[in-house]
Amino acid sequence: MLLTRDEIRFDFGGAEFDVERDRQALTWVFSQFLYGEVTGIQVGHWIYNAPDFDSAQFLVRQCAQELSHVRLLRRIFDRLETQPQPAHRLVKFLSTGLMGASWEEHVCLEMALGEGYVLTVFYALIDTVPDPLIRRLLETAARQEETHVAFGEEQTMRAGRDPRRRRHLLGMSLVSLFAMRRLAGAMARRMQPQHPVWRQLPAFARHTAELSELRLQRMGLLEEPLQAMSPVARTRLMTAGLLARAMAPLRFKRRRLTGTYLQDRAIANPALPPA
Ligand SMILES: [Fe+2]
Ligand SMILES: [Fe+2]
Repeated sequence: MLLTRDEIRFDFGGAEFDVERDRQALTWVFSQFLYGEVTGIQVGHWIYNAPDFDSAQFLVRQCAQELSHVRLLRRIFDRLETQPQPAHRLVKFLSTGLMGASWEEHVCLEMALGEGYVLTVFYALIDTVPDPLIRRLLETAARQEETHVAFGEEQTMRAGRDPRRRRHLLGMSLVSLFAMRRLAGAMARRMQPQHPVWRQLPAFARHTAELSELRLQRMGLLEEPLQAMSPVARTRLMTAGLLARAMAPLRFKRRRLTGTYLQDRAIANPALPPA
């Protein structure tokens, strides 16, 4: 990953949840993740549209891991002795509404940024939920999420070599950041302002946004700090990104692996002569 675990972790100053007292709030949080893990089925779409054999094979492993996280979350609900609830509309927007219109959008928005948000919250929960079983389950999921984020970053860097594509991905990344900030605001409104962990939510949301900005810089999509960009320039980038995305179904679709496999670097051996 382009960011270390130490960079990603947020210092809650030792504040922790109380699993008994905060059961309802924790159930709400894990319910949001449950929706995200169920969107593992969307990976099937990307296996079908993967640009090369190695990517397809990685996604097959990822899909199995996301669906295993669904069972892992069920064990957390069992531990909390609660039932999952419906997800917030912004969680659905970030996980499904913002589903990539192209391979490049998928790896950037859903994997590098989206799973990057997930990982930041997983680390935060590992640090603040004082239950050994829940921590162990989250630790297992976090290690796998790290590989998903790393794949997204690497693929985004490859896509970003094209300046037009880089600009488009930056515009859509700003849309994603905007939705993430809105979600944090919605969460802050429903949580207890005096709670030792929840009262740190605004600072944690700022930290998550700063991490995303750092990730965008390290992936080469963002050359200057967002602060240096005028609100007009930001709005223009977001609008252009959304417009291009709306036109995406009209664009030429990439050939699938079934049409390209004989030239795939995992299959063809350039050292041998043609048959
Ligand atoms: Fe997952
Ligand atoms: Fe993931």
